Order: sequence, then C-alpha cells, then structure tokens
Amino acid sequence: MEITLEDENNNSSGNFEFKAAHQAFRDRWKGTDDTMCRHSMSFHLHHKLQSDFFASYLYLLEKIPLVKLFPVTCEFIKGEKQFYYRAQKFYEDVPASEEGMMGDFVEISNVDLESSRQFLKRFVGPGKAGTHRALDCGSGIGRVSKGVLLPVFEKVEMADMMEHFLLHAHEEYLGDDADRIETYYCYNLQEFTPPRNKYDVIWMQWVACHLTDKDLLNFLIRCKKSLRPNGVLIIKDNMARQGCKLDPIDSSISRHLDIMKVIVSKAGLEILAVERQEGFPEVIMPVWMMAMK
Ligand SMILES: C[S@@+](CC[C@H](N)C(=O)[O-])C[C@H]1O[C@@H](n2cnc3c(N)ncnc32)[C@H](O)[C@@H]1O
Repeated sequence: MEITLEDENNNSSGNFEFKAAHQAFRDRWKGTDDTMCRHSMSFHLHHKLQSDFFASYLYLLEKIPLVKLFPVTCEFIKGEKQFYYRAQKFYEDVPASEEGMMGDFVEISNVDLESSRQFLKRFVGPGKAGTHRALDCGSGIGRVSKGVLLPVFEKVEMADMMEHFLLHAHEEYLGDDADRIETYYCYNLQEFTPPRNKYDVIWMQWVACHLTDKDLLNFLIRCKKSLRPNGVLIIKDNMARQGCKLDPIDSSISRHLDIMKVIVSKAGLEILAVERQEGFPEVIMPVWMMAMK
C-alpha cells in the first residue's frame, strides 16, 4: 500500500517523529515480498496483508484512527479483481447447509439467532419499523430469514450471489415458508440496487465483510433509499479487535467497529444502537450488531 507518509505528516505534524520508525518498518517488509510470494498467496493479497499490518502498526504506535487509512486500503482492493473472484470461488465449494453458512461453528447458530431476534424486537412495532417486508442480504440458504425474519415479517426477500444457496432455500430449507419469499435476487451486492422505498428492515449478516469499503459504502447508500419510513438497516458481522483484518481464504475483511461506524455515517445513516453478540466462544472474532436508519 502506498501510504504517503508525507501526506500524513502534512496532516499532522505530530506524526513526524515517527517517520524513521515508519521507514524502518517498510524496509523490513520490502525484503520479504519475494520470498513470501513464492508461497500460495498472490502478490496482491500479500501486499494487502502487509498494508493491513502496517495500518495496525500505525494505530498501535500513534493511535492514528485507522479511518484515515481506509480509503487508501479501499482503493487498493478496488482494483483487485481477485478479492471478489476468490470469494466467489470459495462459496462455490461451500455446501448449502447451516454448517456451510456457519463455517466451523454451526453450534453457535441458535445463540446467534436468538440474540438477533431480541435485537430486532427493539426496532419493530407500533411507531417503529413495520412488519410487512424485510430483505435478507447475503442470505445464503436463508438461515437468518428462517430463524429471525420470517417469524416477524409477512414477506421476505433474499439476495445472495450464489445460486445454489438460493435454490436450496426455495426447494428445501425454508419448507412451506418459502411461499412467503417474494423474490430471490441472485446478485453480487456490489452490483445490486434494491428497489426503492420497499423494506421495513434490511438485514446484512456476515456479508458486509465481503465488500470493499467503497462498495460497502455505496451499497449502504442504496439500502437507505430502499427503506420505508421508519425502516431500519441491521448489520451483524465480525469486527476486528484492531484495524482491518483480511482473510485471504474467503476474501473477507473484518473491520474495527469504529471503522464500520465511519462507513455507516459516510453513507448518511444514523446509528440507532450497537450491541455485542454474547455467548460466542472467545476464539471467535467479536461479532457486533448495529442498527441504523
Ligand atoms: C457466511 S455466509 C452468511 C449467510 C447468512 N447471512 C447467514 O448468516 O447464515 C456469507 C454469504 O454471503 C454471500 N456473499 C458473499 N459475498 C457476496 C457478495 N459480494 N454479494 C452477494 N452475496 C455475497 C455468500 O454467498 C454467502 O451466502
């Protein structure tokens, strides 16, 4: 990543004293590029990891809010077709099942769904969001639609890039409830524009992490237009303990909650509540729910 130290320094003279440390850090990485790229990681992904590491380092060293850096990171990934290609390849091999949706952690699915139901309750009802229609983004087979949305909303729509997940939802997983799925959108969210003024709730679980900062920002802007009056958008996702963390296997980026908040506010959304998911094992990255309008 080309972090322009000069720019950083111009923005904040306090950063100047760290210039030598920055340079030393970058020199340290430079030498390792060739060696590391001989292994499975592509040069670009390796470079991305390096930049994330550098961002975390800056944060640790100077407490520079990472939000300053994310547009740079975002620019970098944006030109990175592999980022989306890898996710596509990854999910092609994922089975259309709850196990597939939950990775290695299917046993926490019920805890997850119960917390989501409780969280949703706070925003739906008289004087709040209606219960007519919800959109499940990155729905997969519809685990969230089935466990959280269909019990509350008359109709649900699902959007996911993988056709085999949506087919499985319709033909098997949702059973009779499939009749209340109004539309299945087989789209990449980065290219999807949900219909205007249509949804009482839009739910995005474990999919914001699959979008680059810029695509996420633009998708949130489109979602905002797609909400009905009093409508609420809910993001539930892994949030990095520090900075951004790229998983090069499934091409997902976990962002620190503060970074997510900045993206959300840049999208013109107002945060209504944030709540950490309780009851997950410590080894799992923190999961947060965020409601916004
Ligand atoms: C970890 S699964 C979560 C599924 C579901 N939200 C749940 O909680 O059970 C991530 C889902 O996001 C979908 N996905 C990943 N990247 C996407 C993208 N760019 N556009 C649309 N869907 C995407 C995958 O196909 C997969 O179904």
